Amino acid sequence: MNIAIIGCGFVADYYVRTLENHPSLKIMGVMDRNPDRAQRFSDYYSLPKYDTLDAVLRDNRVQLVVNLTNPRNHYEVSKAALEAGKHVYSEKPLATDYAEAKELVELAESRGLQISSAPCSLLGETAQTIWKALREQAIGHPYLVYAEMDDGLVHKMMYQAWKSESGTPWPYKDEFEVGCTLEHAGYYLTWFPAFFGPAVNVSAFADCLVKDKVSDGKLDPPDTPDFSVACIKFASGVVARLTCSIVAAHDHELKIFGETGILSTEDCWYYRSPVHIKRRFNIRRKTIVSPIPETYPLVSNQTKKQKYRGAQQMDFARGIAEMADAIKQGQQPYLSARYSLHVNEMVLAIHYALDTGTSYRMETTFEPLEPLSWAR
Ligand SMILES: NC(=O)c1ccc[n+]([C@@H]2O[C@H](COP(=O)([O-])OP(=O)(O)OC[C@H]3O[C@@H](n4cnc5c(N)ncnc54)[C@H](O)[C@@H]3O)[C@@H](O)[C@H]2O)c1
Repeated sequence: MNIAIIGCGFVADYYVRTLENHPSLKIMGVMDRNPDRAQRFSDYYSLPKYDTLDAVLRDNRVQLVVNLTNPRNHYEVSKAALEAGKHVYSEKPLATDYAEAKELVELAESRGLQISSAPCSLLGETAQTIWKALREQAIGHPYLVYAEMDDGLVHKMMYQAWKSESGTPWPYKDEFEVGCTLEHAGYYLTWFPAFFGPAVNVSAFADCLVKDKVSDGKLDPPDTPDFSVACIKFASGVVARLTCSIVAAHDHELKIFGETGILSTEDCWYYRSPVHIKRRFNIRRKTIVSPIPETYPLVSNQTKKQKYRGAQQMDFARGIAEMADAIKQGQQPYLSARYSLHVNEMVLAIHYALDTGTSYRMETTFEPLEPLSWAR
């Protein structure tokens, strides 16, 4: 499959590096609306460069466009690519507006094209192992999920020094403006519908807790949620509570509470994050959860050791390779357009929780209390 990369920013390096794991994909060229970036990226990886998006779309050799632009540009780039007859693999979110995401999916369907969205970690060893354990009733019937996507106080970190391998700075302004829910909720939300069926209801709360995150200019908008929490009910009856923040200390743990035990993994950002089970058992009159976890063996179809660089051990290009394979066989990708839209809809419902009114406003209040005299 001949592909072209649009957007030569921070994440593009991860794609090019992990494309080395998937020789079926051939990069015809790269393009960025910032010509210096495109030039540097093309030089660094010795890849051909296109000067305009139009030039990519006019190139009949390109079958699939990989959209690695900023989230607020995903819609326009994906739409242009579909209109030009190219399949699209988009970084997440599919779009920042539900109507736009739906339009993209309908456009793809009307043209007989495929569109799919990252993250593709459902194709990873950890997600597939958890799903297998659930199917094998390793924890009996699953009831409840607690998933955390907390990344610590990012605005206090040394983010100005974070650079990709080819030298692109981490786009902190865009990350703060887009927000951690649109950026990160999808990592777990692409797993759950596969495990538990479609989501039927999302109850969410989102807020901006840290207003002035940058000292060099203003953010637009200034108050994107940096904290969100959602309870999602899935068709199977399972409820998942997902928290996203760039405030609480780093925690990416997933716990699934079932009838006979707890299934967990430390971090969905590692495709081979170990999967553990803690079993529940009775001793005399007490019910105890085993303090020592058992490791559930990881399933894998990877014949070679995957190449990763940096902190994120994700095989970014795996979703594109699977998509290319599916297209070749006349099938839908694993992360199909409709599946990607479903995930996008959940993520947007959480991100826009304040606007969509899914948070209940308290009516009552009371006079402030004083500490007790002996405690003053
Ligand atoms: N930064 C990360 O660690 C990370 C990790 C995983 C996924 N992502 C996702 O990857 C995507 C890109 O993020 P990034 O960190 O690389 O951002 P970035 O700002 O570093 O790079 C995006 C690039 O896209 C270019 N661009 C924007 N609109 C364009 C257009 N219309 N035509 C051509 N080029 C255009 C920009 O000039 C920029 O160079 C986002 O969807 C983000 O959610 C980022």
